Formats: sequence, C-alpha cells, structure tokens
Amino acid sequence: MSTPIRVGIIGTGGIAGAHYLGYKHAGAEIVALCDANAEVLAKRQKRWGVKSGYSNYESLLAHDGLDAVSICVPNALHFPITMAAAAAGKHVLCEKPVSLDLAQAEAMVAACEAAGVVFQVGHHMRSWSAAVMAKAMIDRGDLGVVTYARLRQAHDWSGAEVVRGQFGSKAASGGGTLLDNGCHLFDLARYLCGDVRDVFARTARLKFDVEVEDTASASLGFVNGAIGDIEVAWTATGWQESFWVFGTKGSLECDNRIANPPTLTHRFRKPGNDSWSETEIADIALDGSESHTQHVVNFLSAIDGDHDVVCSGHDGLEAVRLVLGAYESAETGRVVQLTS
Ligand SMILES: NC(=O)c1ccc[n+]([C@@H]2O[C@H](COP(=O)([O-])OP(=O)(O)OC[C@H]3O[C@@H](n4cnc5c(N)ncnc54)[C@H](O)[C@@H]3O)[C@@H](O)[C@H]2O)c1
Repeated sequence: MSTPIRVGIIGTGGIAGAHYLGYKHAGAEIVALCDANAEVLAKRQKRWGVKSGYSNYESLLAHDGLDAVSICVPNALHFPITMAAAAAGKHVLCEKPVSLDLAQAEAMVAACEAAGVVFQVGHHMRSWSAAVMAKAMIDRGDLGVVTYARLRQAHDWSGAEVVRGQFGSKAASGGGTLLDNGCHLFDLARYLCGDVRDVFARTARLKFDVEVEDTASASLGFVNGAIGDIEVAWTATGWQESFWVFGTKGSLECDNRIANPPTLTHRFRKPGNDSWSETEIADIALDGSESHTQHVVNFLSAIDGDHDVVCSGHDGLEAVRLVLGAYESAETGRVVQLTS
C-alpha cells in the first residue's frame, strides 16, 4: 500500500468540514490545521483529533513532511497563501473563487506550474455525478446541438437575518452572491457548454445590510452559439441548486427542489411521437457520491498522477473572468465581450 498523502487544512471554518470528510474518506492523513481564530482552531483540533495546530499559514507550511494543503480561508487570502504554498512545494486545493482578479490568478497558476505542484480549484460541482453524467451525454451528442442552459444556485443563509462572517464585506470577499454562488455556476456553464463569448448581468441588494449584492442574474452567449442564464441569490427561501440544459434532440433537468438528493432527468422524443407535451423521460443513474468528497478524492488522484486535475487553476481563472465581466456589465448596463 502506498503512503497516505499528508495534508494540512488552512482555515478551519465552514467549508473546511467538507474537505476534512473528503480526506478521511480517501484515507489521507490530516497532519496539521491552521486558523487565525484560536477558539475555532482548538475546537477543530479536538473534534478531528489533529495534534498540530498553527495560528498562521507560514508555520503550517513549515510542518515536517507535509505534501498538500487545502486553502479554506476568506477569498482575499487565496492569493497570498497559494503563492506561499507553491513556493514551499505543496500541492494546493484552493477554495473558490480562486482569486479576486485575473493578475492574481495568472500568478497563482504560474507559481504552481513552476513548482511542479497540483493546483485544483474548489468548483466542486465538476465532481458532482449529475454534472459529470450531463457532460458525458452532451459530449456524446445525446441532446443534439445544445441551444440553451439555465443554472440556479440560491439560498437565504438558513433564514438568518444577517449574512455570515466575511461574506458581506467587499474587501474580504470581493463581491456578493454573483461572485460567491455565481463563480460555481459560471464554471459549471463552461464545463457543460464551453467557453463564453459575452455576458450581460444585473445585480441588486434587496434584503441584507451588506456592501455587496444579494440577488443577481446573468445572461451568457457561448462561443458555440448557445445562450444561457445564471440565477443566484441570498434572497431565496431555502436552498436551491439546479441546472437545465436544452438541445435540439433532448434536454436534461436536475433540481434539488424536485428530488433531494437531486436526480438527472433526460427528456427526448421517440421517432413518430408528434404529441405537444408527451415525451420519453429517463432518469439517469447517478453514483450517489457527495460532490465535495469526490472533489477531494479527485485532488488526491491528481497528486497520485491517476488523472488530470478536474478543475485547474486555468478553470478557476476563467470563472473569475466571467464574474468580473458580469460585474462590469451590471455597472455599465452593457453587454461585455469576453473573447476577441
Ligand atoms: N466550494 C464550496 O461550495 C464553498 C462553500 C462555502 C465556502 N467556500 C469558500 O471557502 C472559503 C471559506 O469559506 P467558509 O464558509 O469556510 O468561511 P468561514 O468564515 O466559515 O471560515 C473561514 C476560516 O478562515 C479563518 N481565517 C481567516 N483568516 C485567516 C488567516 N489569515 N489564516 C488562517 N485562517 C484564517 C477564519 O478564522 C475562519 O475560521 C471562502 O473562500 C468561500 O468562498 C466554498
């Protein structure tokens, strides 16, 4: 049996729990934790049984024998910590959005390449079996020519009256729901339908007393001619995560409001069926894996050289490009061209 990969987790708040479960599932060894908040760190060390805890990432990166890190801190810190991890020769699983601007993302990609380390970004929907199956079906031509995609991620902070932690701060997070939820959907849209040519977006702050938007939508024109819409909100009721892809020969629907855990439904027409509304319906078998867990498993497999990185630094950069284009559009009221 090969030696388990030795991992450190930097930032031990909400999403770090999903990374922890992924590493446990995959048999990696979590050797050190880091958090600037001593109370949070102590709780996590106790609950997860990790002896070494550090209040700063520089000390964690110097931990003896560390192979890889998960970076689970506020968005503005992804850049400096990834740069330091690459310089220390550690493989990096960095949470999304990869950075707050394109220059940072480019520097992060270059630093990881130069150091020869794996750099994976936390757009975990690429590791979600529904998305993986959808992509395989689209690539195989099961939908014919893809014409339209609609993607939605929305919630209401579990009914809380305030936005949690750093998420409402422009300096710490870089943006609101368009960045936080939207970067996942922009990435998923690219994964399923290819590169995006232009974007038009609207943003609004309608409920929360924060510096950023809490409701947004964006209309996309894909390079291949398809069009699409992204809907994101912190002003929903409960949690919704869904995508729909429509093509000339069929469509795919996946919505956690219809089935939870969500199923992937394929609608198509048999030859000779001329009904307006009746179609064939097939539920596509999913493997039941949890997407965050699978994303960590995919990171470790990439380190082992078993397959390519499932969401690369370049993919993370492209998602940031779309988010920034959408903000520019919302500010100017114009369509923003993303490709020349
Ligand atoms: N992939 C996903 O689905 C998903 C979901 C939630 C959050 N995220 C991303 O994960 C990141 C963290 O989000 P969260 O919800 O876990 O936030 P959180 O506030 O719950 O946790 C962040 C932790 O980082 C710690 N921290 C802050 N500054 C630090 C520093 N300098 N050094 C070490 N620790 C520091 C905080 O004390 C806190 O415990 C964000 O980038 C967010 O966008 C991704």
